[in-house]
This record gives sequence, C-alpha cells and structure tokens, in this order.
Amino acid sequence: MQTVGIIGAGIMGAGIAQTVASKGMDVVLTDISLEIAEKGKAGIAKGLARLVAKEKMTQADADALLARITPVGDYAAMAGCDLIIEAATEREDIKARIFEAAGKVLGANAIMASNTSSIPITRMASGSPDPARFCGLHFFNPVPVMGLVEVIPGLATSQDTIDRMKAFGERLGKTVVLAGDAPGFVVNRILCPMLNEAIFVLGEGLGSVEDIDAGCRIGLNHPMGPLTLCDFVGLDTLYEIMKVFHATTGDPKYRPAPLLQKYVEAGWYGRKTGKGFYDYSGEKPVPTR
Ligand code: CAA
Ligand code: NAD
Repeated sequence: MQTVGIIGAGIMGAGIAQTVASKGMDVVLTDISLEIAEKGKAGIAKGLARLVAKEKMTQADADALLARITPVGDYAAMAGCDLIIEAATEREDIKARIFEAAGKVLGANAIMASNTSSIPITRMASGSPDPARFCGLHFFNPVPVMGLVEVIPGLATSQDTIDRMKAFGERLGKTVVLAGDAPGFVVNRILCPMLNEAIFVLGEGLGSVEDIDAGCRIGLNHPMGPLTLCDFVGLDTLYEIMKVFHATTGDPKYRPAPLLQKYVEAGWYGRKTGKGFYDYSGEKPVPTR
C-alpha cells in the first residue's frame, strides 16, 4: 500500500489523511471541490502546528507529512491508488454516486473501502465495480488519536481484501477488529443508540445538558459526556446513522430522538457548525438549553 485516495475531506477524511500520511504513505485527497479538499488539508496543517508548538512533533516531520497529501479536484489522480477510502457525508445516495464515479478509475487490484458509520456494506458493494474488493473500514474520531479500526466484510468481500485491510489498519498502528455487516456493525450498534437515548433523556427534561454529561462522564468514567460526544461526532451524522438503523431494521427502538431531528433542522450540527447542545463561540462551550 503506497498511495491512498480519500474521498471527503471533513472531520474523518482529514483525520484519515493525516494518519495515513504520518505512516509514510502518499494521500490523494478530494471532496466536492478542490477548494474544500484544500480546506481539509489546511485544517490538518493547523492541527500539526499545535503538535509542533507542544513539541510533540518536529516542524520537519510536520512539513514532510503535509507534503505527502495532495488535494485534487476530481478522481483522475485516484487511478494510481492502491486503496480508495470513501469518507463523505453519511448519505447512501451520495456514497452510491461516489462509488459509481470513483469505480471508473479504480485500479485492477485496488480496494474500495467505506468509512460509513452505519450503512450496510453488502448493500453499497453492489454499486462498486468489484464487490470482492469492497470493504467497510471504520475509523474512530479523532482518527490520529483513537486506536481502533473495524474491518467489515460484505457478503462478497474476498479473504484477500480482508487480509489487506487488516494489514493496512495495523500499519496505521491501530487495533483491528472484524465486525459483521449489520447497521452500525459492532461499536456504533452499541454507541449510537446510547447517544440517541441521551437526547431522549434531555428532551424529556430528566436532566440538564450539563448534568447528563457530568453524570455519564463521572458516573461511567467516559472521557466525554454523551451530549458533548454528539456535538463532536456531528448531529447531522448521528441523525443519518439513526435513520439507517431504523429504516434497515424496522425496529422502533432506533427511531431518532425528536430533539435530534429538531437540532439538525435548525442547522445546529455541533462543533462543525459552532453550535449543537453547546455553543462553541466563546472561550468555553456553553449549553444551548
Ligand atoms: N493528531 C495527533 N495527535 C492529536 C491530535 C491530532 N489531530 N489531536 C489531539 N492529539 C493528541 C494530543 O496531542 C494529546 O496527546 P498526549 O496525550 O500525548 O498529550 C492527545 O491526543 C489527547 O488530546 P487532548 O489532550 O487535546 O485532549 P483530551 O485528553 O481531552 O482527549 C479525546 C481528547 C481523545 C477526544 C477524548 O476526549 C476522547 O477520547 N473522547 C471520546 C472520543 C470518542 O468517543 N470517539 C469516538 C466517537 S464515535 C466514532 O468515531 C464512530 C462513528 O462512526 C460516529
Ligand atoms: P463531515 O461532515 O465532517 O465531512 C463530510 C465531507 O464529505 C464534507 O467535507 C463534504 O463536503 C464531503 N462530501 C459530501 N458529498 C461529497 C461528494 N459527493 N464527494 C466528495 N465529498 C463529498 O463528516 P465526517 O464526520 O467526516 O463523516 C464522514 C463519514 O465518516 C460519514 O460516513 C460518517 O458517518 C463517517 N464517520 C464519522 C465519524 C464521526 O465521528 N464524525 C466517525 C466515524 C465515521
């Protein structure tokens, strides 16, 4: 694996790009436009500058890492990639269009992977050029820091693809676990209903934003309270995830919390828009209700 294409330069695409480049591989990074891909790279540069300032990285290593990331405006440059990782918005229609377009340049032995949080892999594989070389590769946010990758084979994913994805995850320094192909796989199947439930609890007035977060942070020893984590993941993403769980299984226990839907409709997506369950415009986050 020497060159990796990444489609989507948001929270996850940028995090994956940084992590891959930090291990000496080249990255071709794209989004809906060259400008947004460049913005993704600029965000990585900002994060690296903080690490340099904290003396966790040398300026020379930061420069070398950044030089390995090339933002592009279309898929042509991905023809030379050994692996293409789709990390675009959690919407199946968007991802289907990406697999169709990027599938046209996918190399004969290259793998197409999706970083989807919830959408079944087998369902998406059928829209890729070779389902045997299609796989779920689920990273965790923030990618440079979190130690896990889930590898999710679809029905037709070959053993060779699974082996190469496991080796790739390990090369990134991550622990790799195999997860089955059902909405949310393993970790999000457990996490996302909990986050959704925290929003139900808030909506029912059972606790304030701060008390729900402090309760889980201190009482469960979680690094972040669930509402802080919702804002960190992105409320738009969590809403799409819960809709996939609900629509795919038909089980009402997965219905998105009405308050989650309301926040998304207001454009309050969390940290990425500056406002969610907290307002991030000041020095310290302040609850919005
Ligand atoms: N690149 C490299 N290193 C970075 C970095 C980056 N972009 N950002 C932070 N770091 C490093 C810091 O330098 C720091 O290193 P040291 O420990 O050596 O000092 C370390 O990471 C921790 O950073 P901070 O001190 O700034 O922050 P923190 O201690 O408060 O931890 C956190 C931040 C890791 C995010 C922690 O709060 C946490 O683990 N939160 C929970 C995150 C979580 O649950 N993620 C999963 C979300 S769900 C998901 O991803 C799946 C999905 O599909 C939705
Ligand atoms: P994000 O909103 O930060 O970024 C999504 C990016 O995709 C945006 O930059 C957007 O412009 C781009 N995009 C939209 N349509 C596109 C297209 N047609 N072609 C190329 N790029 C396009 O979202 P994110 O948090 O980075 O999530 C990306 C994927 O990773 C989703 O599938 C999400 O479920 C998954 N994921 C998210 C997290 C998380 O904590 N946020 C964790 C693991 C996995």
